[in-house]
Amino acid sequence: MPFPSLSIGDLTAKLPIVQGGMGVGISLHRLAAAVAAEGGIGVIAGAMIGMREHDIAKDPQTANARALAAEIVKARALTDGVLGVNIMVVLTDFSNLVRTSIANRADVIFSGAGLPMELPKIFRTMCEEKKEDFKTKLVPIISSARAASILCKKWLLKADYLPDAFVLEGPKAGGHLGFKPEDLNDPEYSLDTVLPQVLDSLKPFEDKYGRAIPVIAAGGVYTGGDIHKYLTMGAAGVQMGTRFVATEECDADIRFKQAIVNAKEEDLTIIKSPVGMPGRAIRGRFLEALEEGKKNFKCVFHCVSTCDPETSPYCIAQALLNAMKGNLDRGFAFIGANGPRVDCITTVKELIHSLQVEYDAAVQAARA
Ligand SMILES: Cc1cc2nc3c(=O)[nH]c(=O)nc-3n(C[C@H](O)[C@H](O)[C@H](O)COP(=O)(O)O)c2cc1C
Repeated sequence: MPFPSLSIGDLTAKLPIVQGGMGVGISLHRLAAAVAAEGGIGVIAGAMIGMREHDIAKDPQTANARALAAEIVKARALTDGVLGVNIMVVLTDFSNLVRTSIANRADVIFSGAGLPMELPKIFRTMCEEKKEDFKTKLVPIISSARAASILCKKWLLKADYLPDAFVLEGPKAGGHLGFKPEDLNDPEYSLDTVLPQVLDSLKPFEDKYGRAIPVIAAGGVYTGGDIHKYLTMGAAGVQMGTRFVATEECDADIRFKQAIVNAKEEDLTIIKSPVGMPGRAIRGRFLEALEEGKKNFKCVFHCVSTCDPETSPYCIAQALLNAMKGNLDRGFAFIGANGPRVDCITTVKELIHSLQVEYDAAVQAARA
C-alpha cells in the first residue's frame, strides 16, 4: 500500500512526510533537496543561515537573506519536488527572511517558536508590491488547539487569510519545545492527546470556509507504524526531524550526526534556551560547563529577539554553529526524545524505503 500523498491547497507532495527544518545549518539545500526528490517536503532552516557569509558579523540581515536565497536556488537546481523553508518567529530578521522565501518561490513557509501573527500580512504585502499572486503556502507550527484557533481568527481578521495547514509539534520533538518543562511528560500535552483537539478546533473553520486545513503531526514520529497511527487519527502527514539528521545528505558535520547515533537515553537533557523556551539536547562538555555559571560573550549576530545577551548564559547561535561544524565541546546538538533509537547513518532514500515497508506492515496489521 503506497503512502497517501499530502496536499496543502493546490500543492501536493507524493509522500505525507515533511522533513522538519533544523537550524543552525543542519537542514540546508542538500538534505531538503534529497527529501523533496524522494517525494516528501524538504525544508531549509533559516536560522543563522548566513553563517558562512563574509559579512555575517557586520550585516547579519543582508548575509542571512542572501544565503537563504542561495540555498533555495541550489535546492531547486537539484529537484522539482516540494521545497519549504523554516523561519522561526523569534528571529530578528523574520520579516526579511519571509520576504526572501516568497520572492524565491519557496513552496511552503513553516513558522514556529512563537505565533507567526504577521506572516499573512507580509505575504499579502509582497503580492501587492510585486503584483503577483505568489503560491507559497503559510504553515504555522503550534503545540495546542488554542494556538490553532487563535491563529485562524487573527489571520482572518488581520489579513483575511486562513492558514494553509498546521504542524502540530508534541513534547517529544527535538529542538525548542512549545511547552513548560514540567508539562513535557504530562499525558495531557502528548501529541496523541492534543492531535484530536486540534482537529476539532479547526473543524468550524473548515466548514465555514469550505476547505481543508491539513494537520501535520510532529515530535517523536519514528517508524512507518507511527506514520500510520497519526494518519489514522486524522493527520494529513507527519514531520520528522531527528531521523533525517542521521542521513548522509544531512548538511551537518559527520560528528554531529554521530552524536545522534551515539546518544543514549541518559545523555538527553532539557535545557533552558536563551530563546526563552525549553529544548531537548544531548548533554556534553559545553552544557555541563554552563552549570558552573554564565559565560560572558559579546553579541554579534543579534539573531533572536527574545534573547538578552546581558542575562543569557551563552550565545545560542554560536553554540549551535559550533555543534553543526562538529565542535561539540563548544556547542550542543538538539535531539528528539526518540533519538536514542537511532543506531546508524543511512541515506534519505533508504530511510524513506524503510518507513514505507513499516507503513505497509501497519496497514496489513490493521486490516487483519
Ligand atoms: C537538530 C535539530 C534542530 C532543529 N531546529 C529547528 C529549527 O531551526 N526550527 C524549528 O522550527 N524546529 C527545529 N527543530 C524541530 C524539527 O523541525 C522537528 O519538528 C522535530 O525535530 C520533530 O521531532 P523528531 O525529532 O522527534 O522527529 C529541530 C530539531 C532538531 C533535532
